[in-house]
Amino acid sequence: MDKIVIQGGVSLKGKVTVSGAKNAALPILASSILAEGEHLFRNVPDLADVRTMCKLLGTMGAEAERQTGKLKDAVRISVPETLSPEAPYELVKTMRASVLVLGPLCARFGRARVSLPGGCAIGARPIDQHLKGLKLLGAELELNAGYVEARAKRLRGATINFDVVTVTGTENLMMAAALAQGRTVLENAAREPEVEELARVLNKMGARISGAGTDVITIEGVERLSAIEHAILPDRIEAGTFAVAAALTQGNVLIERCVPEHLDAVIQKLRAAGATVSAEDGGLRVKGPRTLKPVDVKTMPHPGFPTDMQAQLMVLMTVADGSSVIAETVFENRFMHALELQRMGADITIDGHTAVVKGVAMLQGAPVMATDLRASASLILAGLRAGGVTEVQRVYHLDRGYERIERKLRGLGARVRRVKDRRAS
Ligand code: EPZ
Repeated sequence: MDKIVIQGGVSLKGKVTVSGAKNAALPILASSILAEGEHLFRNVPDLADVRTMCKLLGTMGAEAERQTGKLKDAVRISVPETLSPEAPYELVKTMRASVLVLGPLCARFGRARVSLPGGCAIGARPIDQHLKGLKLLGAELELNAGYVEARAKRLRGATINFDVVTVTGTENLMMAAALAQGRTVLENAAREPEVEELARVLNKMGARISGAGTDVITIEGVERLSAIEHAILPDRIEAGTFAVAAALTQGNVLIERCVPEHLDAVIQKLRAAGATVSAEDGGLRVKGPRTLKPVDVKTMPHPGFPTDMQAQLMVLMTVADGSSVIAETVFENRFMHALELQRMGADITIDGHTAVVKGVAMLQGAPVMATDLRASASLILAGLRAGGVTEVQRVYHLDRGYERIERKLRGLGARVRRVKDRRAS
């Protein structure tokens, strides 16, 4: 098992290029199930989760392969006429986003057997809304030995009102409705840029989807869809993570190939904290201030402040000149990183879904443990700002969502390296 070792105290300078978005790539790769033929997806990040999704498609009988040479950022998927519509526990337990094959399998083959994802470090994360929606589209569902078994001759259009805004729930039902008979309306739908991107891809395949990016999405079902080529949008959370890194280290960084509009809520908080943030050359320039100001944050579904940036923003507030309040409203257990930051000398008080962060003059390097993807990114950031050496263990969490982050940070002058953690089992 690897760990990442950081020698803090360097101001980050230079340019960094953002990879394709993990949370767009996963539903888009799953959507290939909907259309027989050769798909080619470009700008697909080389991440553990992407490899898991390709493996899952492979177990069903598709061929999903990362290309080489000039096409090394691409994944080619060859989808045959029939697939074995099963997502096994062994794969789903490693990546809950595997549930994104449920809607497409049900829609194209009229049946699916998908392992229930189970709990997660950041919260219970049930899929009741996914199942409620499939039932409304006419599927018969049965829970059997930890699996959801779904059957439907052909899905029928329906109006689905989500009780809670859910990103993958919206995506799963949008894909299911694309091949359903008649019209489907998704109300209180998620508005994330990744949902919009999936709708773009499905429409390219021949679907008829309108309203993606708003909270009401309308899908007119069609008979069949066709295979396509598509380049996936940049990862706004990776871009946001580098923006915080620049602000945190009094840096001056140009984040290339990111879409500033996808980061409005994050940019507003960085500016309120004293950073200078400006759109430049198709990217974002971020300059960190000498002194950071405290800002309060409340995570919300898009276009609110993203929960996937909460841990990174918390690190920024650990060294701000004053106190800030961070409220996590999307997941019930997403403050695990705070306990590790306290080990680095941060002053954080947790009360349920709220954290009060009192800024300190300096963080100290220490061995710390990553508990989930964004928590691991926050510990890397803390290590960049801390005095001395920080060792972040269990970085397999990081590799699920960040492509070669230590190499990108070294490109900005950071003293960071990946080493084998001989002590870890
Ligand atoms: C997506 O997860 C992202 N993952 C998450 O990113 C992200 O944190 C989350 O959306 C919120 O933005 C992918 O896109 C692959 P939700 P998802 O369904 O879809 C509750 C990362 O770090 N809920 O929008 O699983 C749920 O428990 C990851 O990249 C139900 O109650 O999240 C949560 O409290 C982490 N019933 C809330 O809704 C349901 O059926 C939002 O969850 C579905 C969700």
